Amino acid sequence: MSAVTGMRALVTGASSGIGAATADVLAAKGATVLRTSRTITGPSSFACDLVDGVEPLVSWAGDVDLLVCNAGLGYAGPFAAMPAAKITELVGLNLVSQLELVRAVLPGMIARDRGHVVLVSSIAGAMGVADEAVYSATKAALKAFADALRLESRPIGVTVVHPGVIDTPFFERRGAPYTRRRPRPIPPVAVAEALVAAVEHNRAEIFVPSWLRFPARLNGAFPAMVRTLQRRFG
Ligand SMILES: NC(=O)c1ccc[n+]([C@@H]2O[C@H](COP(=O)([O-])OP(=O)(O)OC[C@H]3O[C@@H](n4cnc5c(N)ncnc54)[C@H](OP(=O)(O)O)[C@@H]3O)[C@@H](O)[C@H]2O)c1
Repeated sequence: MSAVTGMRALVTGASSGIGAATADVLAAKGATVLRTSRTITGPSSFACDLVDGVEPLVSWAGDVDLLVCNAGLGYAGPFAAMPAAKITELVGLNLVSQLELVRAVLPGMIARDRGHVVLVSSIAGAMGVADEAVYSATKAALKAFADALRLESRPIGVTVVHPGVIDTPFFERRGAPYTRRRPRPIPPVAVAEALVAAVEHNRAEIFVPSWLRFPARLNGAFPAMVRTLQRRFG
């Protein structure tokens, strides 16, 4: 039996991509899965825009054992030309709504002495990506938040997930397709399976694919060298 069997799990951004795959993997392992996004329909699903606030969602979901904060939006283009409204939208969805959701469910987890929070960041949160300055900033903030939260909220598990390039509608939605030859996009189920395994084993941080931990660690140890490599290879 898996550690997620019997858990009551709330997954945001569950209509598509990584969130949909995660909800399916959790359900296959015997979790009770509550799905949310703006457009989602069906049983155990709740449609809401997280930028408008999390209260309606939290009331609908009730107590949850596992919160997967996955909903997110990208933006690609030079920061100097980024519309102010887009900055507000990215920070509102990718960061503020995640903090609000965790704030809402964490006291219940602490009172029950069990629970797990997953924050879906990005490789862009571990090392800044050109033309994705605000996106990188929101994802780096999630990683810092997760590190602090883990220290102060034991025994509640906190996992931060850094996906690389994943084959989802993310790029289409942000209005800029993924055009690089490498790394090749991988299927969202690979992230979903790694994410659920991280919950099962209470891992603090995972990279998907796992080799991405090397550039991230290199950036931590030798940032000047990584800046040179990024300028040369993008
Ligand atoms: N794909 C990648 O290469 C990649 C890489 C690194 C990190 N990530 C991260 O992984 C997470 C999932 O992305 P994905 O690739 O699975 O993208 P996706 O297929 O575009 O899914 C995004 C999900 O977020 C929901 N969503 C968007 N805006 C919302 C809002 N205002 N309120 C509530 N829900 C909203 C969308 O559903 P509705 O439109 O129905 O609301 C959808 O279910 C994101 O946080 C993303 O930053 C993705």
